Amino acid sequence: MSDKTYDLLVLGAGPGGYVAAIRAAQLGLKTAIVDANAALGGTCLRIGCIPSKALLDSSHRYHSAQHELIDHGVHVAGVGLDLEKMMQRKDKVVKALTGGVKSLMKKNEVDVTHGRGVLRGPGEVEVTGDEGEKTTLEAEKIVLATGSVPSTLPGVELDGDRVGSSTEALAYPEVPERLVVIGAGYIGLELGSVWARLGSQVTVLEYLDRILPGMDLEIAKAAQKIFQKQGLELRLGTKVTGVERDGDLCRVQSEGNDPIECDRVLVAVGRKPASQEIGLEEVGVETDERGFVQVDEHYATNVPGVYAIGDLIGGALLAHKAEEEGIACVESIVTGYGHVHYDAIPGVVYTEPEIASVGRTQEQLEEDGVPFKKGTFPYRGNGRARAMGAEEGLVKVLAHQETDRILGVHILGAHAGDLIAEAVAAIEFGATAEDLARTSHAHPTLAEIVKEACLAATEDRAIHI
Ligand code: NAI
Repeated sequence: MSDKTYDLLVLGAGPGGYVAAIRAAQLGLKTAIVDANAALGGTCLRIGCIPSKALLDSSHRYHSAQHELIDHGVHVAGVGLDLEKMMQRKDKVVKALTGGVKSLMKKNEVDVTHGRGVLRGPGEVEVTGDEGEKTTLEAEKIVLATGSVPSTLPGVELDGDRVGSSTEALAYPEVPERLVVIGAGYIGLELGSVWARLGSQVTVLEYLDRILPGMDLEIAKAAQKIFQKQGLELRLGTKVTGVERDGDLCRVQSEGNDPIECDRVLVAVGRKPASQEIGLEEVGVETDERGFVQVDEHYATNVPGVYAIGDLIGGALLAHKAEEEGIACVESIVTGYGHVHYDAIPGVVYTEPEIASVGRTQEQLEEDGVPFKKGTFPYRGNGRARAMGAEEGLVKVLAHQETDRILGVHILGAHAGDLIAEAVAAIEFGATAEDLARTSHAHPTLAEIVKEACLAATEDRAIHI
């Protein structure tokens, strides 16, 4: 016997899940959402995107006060770090936003149940609260949106303390003197930057011979040089084989190298789907060998009435990709049509400077034998970048050789994460490089660099170089 019955129930209140719930409510469905954590918003809001951006911003200000303001003729004396206050500010930001999601649920009349939800059958979810109390909810459609959790390596056990994931690295109680980061991906570079700016000696160990696998190689190489200049020690081609704890000391072993001693280890070697203990086996929902739930183009699993979106189904593990899938899934349930354009999902690394990317990389085009032309334009050729003291970086535009259609845009430089939005819209609308090159961009803005790179891609017509 169920305690309550709904049209649609979402399991997991991260960006994928709570957005899906709001859209379902907007479309007139009686909707419920279940989350094990009382603070809604998932990994992104609680222990991911938002707190990391708060710390990236705070640590940047600290670093800038020490090293950059002087170039602007601003003398500051007695710059100090109050880490506790920095963390409190981060927590306040998180609290305001998770509270905001709760208000959104109320406004949209989505019923929130706090507890751990498990599929008990098609249309049935059992929720266990903190005190062990059980509630059964029924819904015609169930959308699984439980996200992902940090993964680790053989020989490296996450101890929730000195050898930890991003969760711990967002809340170290003191600035570690020596921090070893395993993995030069999104998390390793963002959180490695935070602690380097706050004074840690940071060593990043990366298995591959490059940083940021999947990103355009030319951009990744340019970024690598900048990070090294900033003081991040990047050891590429390093395969970590184990981590040992000796009291407060950690020893990181890697193939063919002496162990590295440090105070804390951040393991950032990817994430895995949170597909355990949510009843998938019991109900017979199919997953692949890595645990990602298998879905069709409407996000339907093999079990009728059960859908899945976001990190749980794989692809790019990004909040905004999950949001798009949540909306497409619900719209397709209600209207029969819902679609995500995966070539137009941007990726942003919030380092300083930022790295942003959308569409295909040069390597992918070469591998697929797609004829393309390329235009690049450096930040140093832009007046606004000069005025800001942000000369590092470039915009790279890849367009089809014959049709001129934009296939990929890759940006390394200040505000790359905001600038990429124009490129995403261009790809979404099937624009050509000529279209953007002939579009007026306000002067002086960084957006002019995108225009100039498009000019460069169309017959080498860039003006300011
Ligand atoms: P990642 O997949 O971005 O990078 C993991 C890195 O670890 C890779 O470079 C890989 O080659 C390396 N690695 C794997 N095994 C290794 C070994 N044995 N020794 C040394 N290096 C090894 O994963 P990351 O940084 O953990 O992030 C997880 C997910 O979270 C990503 O998929 C990312 O999309 C998402 N994320 C997104 C952010 C954003 O949008 N700004 C920020 C943080 C995370």
